[in-house]
Amino acid sequence: MDLPRSDRLNKLPPYLFADLRRKMKAARDKGVKVVRIDIGDPDQPAPDSVVEELCRTVVDPADLDRHRYGCDRPVEALPAAARDFYSRRYGVDLAEDQLVTTMGSKDAIVKFCLALMNPGDVAIAPVPGYPTYNIGHVFAGGETFEVPLLKANDYLVDFDAIPADVRRKAKILWLNYPNNPTAATADLSFFERAVEFARQNDILIAHDAAYTLNTFDGYEAPSILQVDGAAEVAVEFFSLSKAFNMTGWRMGFVAGNASAVAALNTVKENIDNGSLRAIQFAATAALNQAEELLPAINAVYQRRRDLVVDALRANGFEIDKPKATIYIWAPVPPRFDGDSGAFATELLDKTGVMVTPGRGYGQWGEGYFRISLSYPDDVLTDALDRIAGLSL
Ligand SMILES: Cc1ncc(COP(=O)(O)O)c(C=O)c1O
Repeated sequence: MDLPRSDRLNKLPPYLFADLRRKMKAARDKGVKVVRIDIGDPDQPAPDSVVEELCRTVVDPADLDRHRYGCDRPVEALPAAARDFYSRRYGVDLAEDQLVTTMGSKDAIVKFCLALMNPGDVAIAPVPGYPTYNIGHVFAGGETFEVPLLKANDYLVDFDAIPADVRRKAKILWLNYPNNPTAATADLSFFERAVEFARQNDILIAHDAAYTLNTFDGYEAPSILQVDGAAEVAVEFFSLSKAFNMTGWRMGFVAGNASAVAALNTVKENIDNGSLRAIQFAATAALNQAEELLPAINAVYQRRRDLVVDALRANGFEIDKPKATIYIWAPVPPRFDGDSGAFATELLDKTGVMVTPGRGYGQWGEGYFRISLSYPDDVLTDALDRIAGLSL
């Protein structure tokens, strides 16, 4: 039986990597050895102490609830550790009703849209940007207004460029700094402007801070919640995925505006039933030990950042060294006339190297491509050698 899909599914844009997967398979079928440097998913394991805490608690005979629904018997220490982390790192004190733990940000972004958007509602999303914001809007029956992130503005949202009718209609404005895919960072004064914009226009800012702890050269990314009064008009999505090499663990939290947090929690209670307690214990350990764990994790990405940027520069690419994220965002060589798809396809066909074409992140991503630093050094070196062999 061939079942028709829901209108909701039919409205989704084509999956970002579907076309590339097809091309990658065709290349492999032709005998090409494909070297992937496109996906942001850490190759390094979660820290030993975090894994040990998981192993200890998953079999702890004293914890009779260890196998049960995580939502009914939550590990109280986890939200406490998250609040304590925000207090230590940012000087932000969160009340209990200002934070809810999540099964990672991707899941939480879609649930957040279901919690706050009605059919026909508008939300603003940055482009190039993480596709899940728009997917959440579509699932909620809403619409996306795309705001460009331009190099000329250091990839920061230009609030003045958001038209008056969109400001009147929009419920949510998504921000994401340090940014995927551009690797741009925002300072506190940008977040101050964002909070002011939210207040003036009655729009909730949803700041996706997925890469906020992946920082280099001593740089520390700010939290939007450091701005005075931000928790009235903003929420921040924090994820343990990239910070602690824990993508598969599905763990994060959302902090800020209490009514938005409560609405998200209601969706969660009706859908996900929370995480295994052992994962909650392990996430608690990661947050409590953040200051000890982060330097070693970030040293690896910083070394790879230098390796990739230096090699690309030697090859004629004009790029800055990013202060954060696990990505390098580079313009396609002039010969491709800004066509990131053509560049990625030729690179794959002639060298076997797979990068992500910027067009996949929306219209203003065109002209660029993204490399992920979540691959071993030798894989990156091999890929960069092959890129160097291509006549650009
Ligand atoms: C900008 C951004 N937000 C959120 C996520 C999702 O993170 P999580 O693993 O917490 O779902 C990603 C993952 O790549 C991302 O790039």
